[in-house]
Amino acid sequence: MKKVIAIYPGSFDPPTNGHLDLIERGSQIFDELIVAVLRNAEKSPLFSLSERRLMLEALTDRFKNVQVDTFDGLTVDYAARKGASAVLRGIRAISDYEYELQMALMNRKLRPDLETVFMMPAEQYSYLSSKLVREVAQLGGSIQDLVPELVERRLREKLDPAVKLQHARKPKTGKRA
Ligand code: PNS
Repeated sequence: MKKVIAIYPGSFDPPTNGHLDLIERGSQIFDELIVAVLRNAEKSPLFSLSERRLMLEALTDRFKNVQVDTFDGLTVDYAARKGASAVLRGIRAISDYEYELQMALMNRKLRPDLETVFMMPAEQYSYLSSKLVREVAQLGGSIQDLVPELVERRLREKLDPAVKLQHARKPKTGKRA
């Protein structure tokens, strides 16, 4: 039987627990799932493309049918290059619906044989977005339980360069000055 390959395109700046929840659900229904990070020249992302890719690779390592890739240009063209027949997108609340419907229908107009499949993340992530995570972290709030530990660490390092210095410093030995 034909393998069903799906792409999960997005900005992932940064990846959240909501994204991971969706990746896990997607990995259970598709034969192969490609998490595709958009190289978006217009936005100025907090994390570089390679930082996002590396984080996602580490976070999805346990899913054997999940790969991480980057792309630019149209999602439908990327999907065609990968032999994908589905695009996975998450819908958290009714407010997501309008934008997602527009994108799904535009993608269908561009490539009628590519299906968009919507999945809902677990309800505890229904209010979660990368944008809010960035904002809360930038303003010093706790993002525990909203992003994986690895992402929390990377965010702290990125937002507080002093943390990096602390890690780089060797512990002092010998007598006190
Ligand atoms: O995580 P995001 O930012 O909501 O993801 C949006 C994304 C990457 C799915 C969308 O911007 C996209 O598909 N961009 C690629 C360019 C494209 O195909 N545009 C037409 C979409 S209808």
